[in-house]
Amino acid sequence: MMNRQIVLAARPTGAAGVEHFRLQEAPIPSVGEGEVLVKTRFFSVDPYMRMRMNDVKSYAPPQKLNEVMGGGSAGIVVESRFSGLVAGDAVVMGGGWQEYALLPGKTLRKVDASALPLEAYLGPAGMTGVTAWHGLFNIIAPKAGETVLVSAAAGAVGSVVGQLAKQVGARVVGVAGGAEKCRHVVDDLGFDACVDYKAGDLAAALQAACPDGIDGIFENVGGVVMDTALRHINTFGRVAICGLISGGYGGGKMPMADITMLLTQRVLVKGFILSDHADVFPVALPALATKVAAGEIKWRRTITRGIENGAAAFIGMLAGANIGKALVEV
Ligand SMILES: NC(=O)c1ccc[n+]([C@@H]2O[C@H](COP(=O)([O-])OP(=O)(O)OC[C@H]3O[C@@H](n4cnc5c(N)ncnc54)[C@H](OP(=O)(O)O)[C@@H]3O)[C@@H](O)[C@H]2O)c1
Repeated sequence: MMNRQIVLAARPTGAAGVEHFRLQEAPIPSVGEGEVLVKTRFFSVDPYMRMRMNDVKSYAPPQKLNEVMGGGSAGIVVESRFSGLVAGDAVVMGGGWQEYALLPGKTLRKVDASALPLEAYLGPAGMTGVTAWHGLFNIIAPKAGETVLVSAAAGAVGSVVGQLAKQVGARVVGVAGGAEKCRHVVDDLGFDACVDYKAGDLAAALQAACPDGIDGIFENVGGVVMDTALRHINTFGRVAICGLISGGYGGGKMPMADITMLLTQRVLVKGFILSDHADVFPVALPALATKVAAGEIKWRRTITRGIENGAAAFIGMLAGANIGKALVEV
């Protein structure tokens, strides 16, 4: 029995492409004491993986060359020598881009695949949802009637942020690329408005969508989108910097145009990396799973089928090909 895997074959110097990855075969290893062998059903393709392709100082070590691309995945236990899991259990894990993952049993999270589709635990009922939860509730902490702006609003994290903010009575405005994404954000997800940042005159569109200014910015994008939003920030506004994908995560600089409003409006700006906040998971995960099951958090996924298409799915997500969570079904 062989295991198909995608490894990082080369580090990009500019834009990442499928040529930086390689599909290879390796034997499936035997299961040691305390270990579990899982057949992957889905793996996640996430923006942060682009950063890990660079050999630069960051919050986590770089992805190693010629090793399996790391990342979140979900699957079914094939063989277990760990007391808490048996064959047939559904689990979420850090299994990466491969058909079979052998991991210490204690690193796996058993999930109820009869309550939610398995892939939901990689999306709104998993790390994605907890990211939204933490930045929104622990940094922005919106009050009813306040305006919250969410960039990459049609994406995995942004779509959850906006729905959670609506549930506490905020007015929620999204920013997304293209008319179809904006339609989805308003009509399907229930945001109050959505600005298409690709349509031109972002400043006028934001002004029209946020007539009372902006109290909280959940920033997934940075660059022009964030600079323009900051011009509308209200006094004592809060900015949760979750991601800066408009910089491409290629290791280059991400300048800010003007910080005057941060001083004059006494704005809190806080970047966060979810892995620093293990305490949020036990609070957020059950609440998110309940909301997803009840239909209170709607979600879409963009699923690419076949491990051989994994690298293309990742590159497509970086370019905005996804609506909702970008996943590969192995
Ligand atoms: N801090 C943390 O711990 C943490 C954890 C998870 C995720 N994140 C960050 O959260 C953000 C969203 O992640 P996600 O997993 O939910 O991905 P996602 O939003 O589902 O997918 C990425 C989206 O980024 C948008 N995008 C790409 N290039 C852009 C550009 N130049 N300008 C504006 N938008 C651009 C695209 O949407 P459009 O078509 O709308 O452009 C694309 O669909 C990312 O920045 C990610 O790094 C941070």
